[in-house]
Amino acid sequence: MKSKLRLGVLGSGKGSNFRAIQEAIVDGELRAEARIVISDVENAGILDLARSHGIKAVHVPPGKFKTKLEPEIEEQVVQLLKNAGVELVVLAGYMRMIKQPMLDAFAGKIINIHPSLLPKFPGIAAWKQALEAGETAAGCTVHYVDAGMDSGKIIAQSEVPILAGDTPEILHARIQVAEHELYPEVIRGFAARRSSINQDLKPDA
Ligand code: GRF
Repeated sequence: MKSKLRLGVLGSGKGSNFRAIQEAIVDGELRAEARIVISDVENAGILDLARSHGIKAVHVPPGKFKTKLEPEIEEQVVQLLKNAGVELVVLAGYMRMIKQPMLDAFAGKIINIHPSLLPKFPGIAAWKQALEAGETAAGCTVHYVDAGMDSGKIIAQSEVPILAGDTPEILHARIQVAEHELYPEVIRGFAARRSSINQDLKPDA
């Protein structure tokens, strides 16, 4: 039987998307393995969650920038991911832009989930942007990561309605329910195509 798709997860927050991915793995619905979880935030819930599953959890202090890592620090993250044998880098609420060291090291192998129907509303609090723009629908998008802000090629989307009386919190919660279905489903697709996303690895390495 084929071995599991090895994931490296990067997050800055509570980690509900990582929880959904991990649940799909534990339930046998996703043939993958989270090898390492890395956060720029020392007390991020996602690190505790990883530890509770016995998964290596590492805080990497981000350095002097607010929206990205210093190149040397991003290189350290790359080494952690490589040493863990990661094949697919999964951004799950990671609040920093990915730059050249990682984009080069994992070209075409970094994905993100964003809480809007991209290309609409990239950037922060996208659900609030949708609400304020008077949209009737919102949703989430899984996309490849490139050097821009939420601008990489779209892989899959899931739509939810915006209902009368929605507050930003209510809408974000509805979008997150959709995220928790969509992200494991997309990663399942990568696991099924594992040998083609990862041609430089031996089939059962
Ligand atoms: C999600 O809404 C995701 O779309 C965005 O950040 C949030 C992370 O939430 N990129 P969680 O930490 O997975 O709960």
